Amino acid sequence: MQNIGVFYGSSTGNTKAVAKLIQTELGEDIATIIDVANAKSSDIEQFNNLIFGTSTWGIGDLQDDFEDFLSELSKAGIDGRKVALFGLGDQYSYPDSFVDGVGEIYELLEGKSCELIGKISVDGYEYDASKAEKDSQFVGLILDEENQDELTNERVKLWVEELKKQFN
Ligand SMILES: Cc1cc2nc3c(=O)[nH]c(=O)nc-3n(C[C@H](O)[C@H](O)[C@H](O)COP(=O)(O)O)c2cc1C
Repeated sequence: MQNIGVFYGSSTGNTKAVAKLIQTELGEDIATIIDVANAKSSDIEQFNNLIFGTSTWGIGDLQDDFEDFLSELSKAGIDGRKVALFGLGDQYSYPDSFVDGVGEIYELLEGKSCELIGKISVDGYEYDASKAEKDSQFVGLILDEENQDELTNERVKLWVEELKKQFN
């Protein structure tokens, strides 16, 4: 497995903490974590494997730094790269816009020639609508620190095990 960049946008630190967990599970020698607030398209292009993580704010809005970073992501040359997404949200307070931000990133990347991996089952989550749900699956790892923080470590561990099998 070659180098992996874990890019995250985080307002109160939850997504940042999960990015660190993911880095630990992947191995600090091959995974680097990067705050999107300081990142450019050239930073993205350095990595053979990519992970993008965001929280959702407002009603279904991308986290602010990630919103600003979308133009960099959009112009990054990432043909042939394997890409996985993760996102944090609150399914009970925002059941109609649960982790919508992740869905926005997915929609942008669908138009590029990268390979999107890391989808998970929607089982175990309670919500009414989510832009991160496509074809009855979540398009990435979904975590809820407000209501299900006790599940986070295990969810991260299982997801990273799958990614390790698939990354370049
Ligand atoms: C004002 C406010 C709006 C939010 N809106 C949403 C939302 O629309 N959908 C969702 O799933 N979570 C929503 N959340 C929950 C956050 O995404 C969640 O707290 C997340 O863990 C924050 O991560 P961060 O600290 O990395 O930014 C909202 C939280 C707040 C305080």
